[in-house]
Amino acid sequence: MKDTNINRREFLKNIGMLGAGALMAASPWLSAFSEVKHTQKEKCRLGIIGPGSRGRFLMEFLLQNEKAEIVALCDIYQPSIDKALELVPNAKVYTDYRRLLENSEVDAVLVTTPLDTHCQIVLDAFDAGKQVFCEKTIGFTMEECYRIYQKHIQTGLIFFTGQQRLFDPRYIKAMEMIHAGMFGQIAAIHTFWNRNGDWRRKVPRPELERQINWRLYREHSKGLMTELACHQLQIGSWALRKLPEKVMGHGAITYWKDGREVYDNVSTIYTFDDGVKMTFNSVISNKFYGLEEQILGSKGTVEPEKGRYYFETIKPAPGFLQMINEWEQSLFETIPFAGTSWAPETAAENKGELILGEIPKTDGTSLLIDAFVEAVITGKQPPRIAEEGYYASMLCLLGDEAMQQERTLYFPDEFKLNYLNHTATNSATV
Ligand SMILES: NC(=O)c1ccc[n+]([C@@H]2O[C@H](COP(=O)([O-])OP(=O)(O)OC[C@H]3O[C@@H](n4cnc5c(N)ncnc54)[C@H](O)[C@@H]3O)[C@@H](O)[C@H]2O)c1
Repeated sequence: MKDTNINRREFLKNIGMLGAGALMAASPWLSAFSEVKHTQKEKCRLGIIGPGSRGRFLMEFLLQNEKAEIVALCDIYQPSIDKALELVPNAKVYTDYRRLLENSEVDAVLVTTPLDTHCQIVLDAFDAGKQVFCEKTIGFTMEECYRIYQKHIQTGLIFFTGQQRLFDPRYIKAMEMIHAGMFGQIAAIHTFWNRNGDWRRKVPRPELERQINWRLYREHSKGLMTELACHQLQIGSWALRKLPEKVMGHGAITYWKDGREVYDNVSTIYTFDDGVKMTFNSVISNKFYGLEEQILGSKGTVEPEKGRYYFETIKPAPGFLQMINEWEQSLFETIPFAGTSWAPETAAENKGELILGEIPKTDGTSLLIDAFVEAVITGKQPPRIAEEGYYASMLCLLGDEAMQQERTLYFPDEFKLNYLNHTATNSATV
């Protein structure tokens, strides 16, 4: 059994958080761990709705948390139930989530079904008095996300979303550094997520294609935006403490022309009120650059996924010097002098510094799950966690809509929440 307390203590120590208020200010949801000592003997009894690939991954973490007990499962697909039962053989099994919600033994549910089913399940779960963890993206449309958020506020029940970066020590520390102004004024946030694969799952019978490969079809999913961008767009509001005001973008199916309906190639530009840009680019036919969020400030750059930051002051060798060196090595014997346009402005060869002393062992998922368990037991919703998840979902859905309509779309006023100061200036100037 994992000792979750030691894990949390190590985590807090690792990011230098013990006693430090600045980190809490940047990531206030970490307060979920503030009463761990006092809740030692209490239990959180959970039901898992949709224990497919992600659901079972999250179950593995719950099984390591001695305060969590998985008492019920619900799925419409027998192979998913069978695999989940291997993890929790004594759980009660349902094929209709509404019956699971009637089980008074269940305090909280994890909703890990396909995107298009989230909204109704989450609303029904709140109505049944259950605390809710819903995987991203929380709703299929912006209206659905808003209805979910409003229901969470009205019922006062706990609401977490599957945005594990909020608990990733690299991101938490990077945000503290950004908010302290270490990287100067942030001008741009470049996010990208590239893969090389068709994103398909094996289907045992043809009639199950849409059910199993739901990610590829517009009736169930918005593809790369709701599956990948959702994680990365959240970085902008966390770093800049405000929302972008508008988005434009283009999407296409350029490689995987196999009957799918969602784009395999997208580019979006989100613009903040001061002109700062956040981009999201994704292709799934080339993985060379992988995934990253590059936060570009006037004094430095931070790449949380890589866990590194780079100051601007370490200058690369001037292009002219580099050319002479290469000339001396006879590399250019046959090439005529190319004039000033030759001077390269290729990326700096600055290897940067590690954000944390060592690369952490967690991507935040286990801590996110532990924080949810704590919140259910204490009944205390940690500040801003629901709102960060809400905005992440809203931004990826707005970006998808902009691509569909092929025009610039503004974040609708009626969907803005009051918790963020929308007029806050760039973090470096606060
Ligand atoms: N946070 C992350 O990093 C992350 C990673 C992967 C997936 N996800 C999210 O997790 C969710 C599930 O993704 P997945 O890859 O596990 O999908 P999946 O298809 O593997 O699992 C979904 C499960 O839900 C079941 N299901 C469908 N409709 C149902 C219903 N009405 N009632 C009960 N069960 C139902 C399916 O049969 C399946 O077993 C998605 O929202 C996805 O975006 C999040």
